Amino acid sequence: MQVIESHGARIPVIGFGTMTLKEDLCVELVEAALHLGYRHLDTAQNYGNEREVGAGMRASGVKREDIFLTTKVWFNRLAAGDLERSVNESLERLALPWVDMLLIHWPNAQIPLAESIAALCKVKSAGLAKHIGVANFNVAMIEEAQKLADGELAVLQIETHPYLDQTKVVAAARRAGMAVVGYCPLARGKVPGDEVLQRIGRAHHKSPAQVALHYLEQQSIIPIPRTSKRERLAENLGSLEMNLTGAEMAEIDKLKRPNARIVSPPQAPKWDT
Ligand SMILES: NC(=O)c1ccc[n+]([C@@H]2O[C@H](COP(=O)([O-])OP(=O)(O)OC[C@H]3O[C@@H](n4cnc5c(N)ncnc54)[C@H](OP(=O)(O)O)[C@@H]3O)[C@@H](O)[C@H]2O)c1
Repeated sequence: MQVIESHGARIPVIGFGTMTLKEDLCVELVEAALHLGYRHLDTAQNYGNEREVGAGMRASGVKREDIFLTTKVWFNRLAAGDLERSVNESLERLALPWVDMLLIHWPNAQIPLAESIAALCKVKSAGLAKHIGVANFNVAMIEEAQKLADGELAVLQIETHPYLDQTKVVAAARRAGMAVVGYCPLARGKVPGDEVLQRIGRAHHKSPAQVALHYLEQQSIIPIPRTSKRERLAENLGSLEMNLTGAEMAEIDKLKRPNARIVSPPQAPKWDT
C-alpha cells in the first residue's frame, strides 16, 4: 500500500478505525482488515479495545513490521510520569513492545503542554513508540507543540469529512511538517445519504462512502474509517482506486457547512478551536 512519509514515519494512506469495536468482533475485524490489505490500524487507551486489536494483529499472521499501529494517550494521563505509565499499560494490553504512532488524544488545559510534550518525547526516546504526534489540537497549539517537541511531531489527527471546514488547521499541520490523519471521515454514517456524493459516485461506479474517503485521500489526508461490517472493509479500501476531477473536488468542497463538527472535547475546553 502507498504511504505518506513524515519525519521518518511511513504511514499507509488509509487506516482502519476501531472505536466502539469490542471483544470478538474487534479481533475478527482487525484480522479481516489485515487480510484484505489494510496496513494501518487506529486504537486508543479510551476505546477499551487495545487487547483485542493486538490479538487481531497476531491472528492475521501479518508481520508486525508491516503494520502501522496508532494508539492514543487519554487526556487524564498526560502528566510527567503518568503518561509513560499509561503507555506501558497500553503496551501490556496490546502485548507489544512498541507502537508505531503514539498520539496525545486531546489537549488538557490543566496540565502544561510543555510537560506532556516532554513526556511524549521521552517515551519515543525510550523506544516505546517509533513516532509521536497529537490529535484535536488547534492552530496555536500545533505551533507550540511542534516547537516544544523540537520538530519531532509527525502526525496531526483531526475530525475531517466533506461537511467540516478544517482548512486552517490542515494548513498549520502542513507548515509544521506533519501528516494529517482524518477521523470521522464518513461523518459517522451521514455521508452515504448525501445526494452530491451519490451522484459523483454513480459517475465513477463507486459508493458515496468511497467518494467521501477519496476526497480526503486526494488531498493527502489519511482517512481512518470504522465499520463493524466485513463487506464495508473492502468497500472502504476500494476508495483508493479512483480519481476525482477538479470540478468534482470543488463541488464536494461546497458541502462544507457551519456547526458540522461531530465530536466534542471530553472536558470543558479552555482553548479556542
Ligand atoms: N482522535 C480522536 O479524537 C478520534 C475521535 C473519533 C474517532 N477517531 C478514530 O477515527 C475512526 C473513525 O471515526 P468514527 O468511527 O467516529 O466515524 P466514521 O468512520 O466516520 O463512521 C463510522 C460509521 O460509518 C458507518 N460506515 C462505515 N463504512 C461505511 C460504508 N462504506 N457505507 C455506509 N456506512 C459506513 C459505520 O457503520 P457500520 O459499522 O454499520 O458499517 C459507522 O456507523 C474511529 O473508529 C477512531 O479510530 C478518533
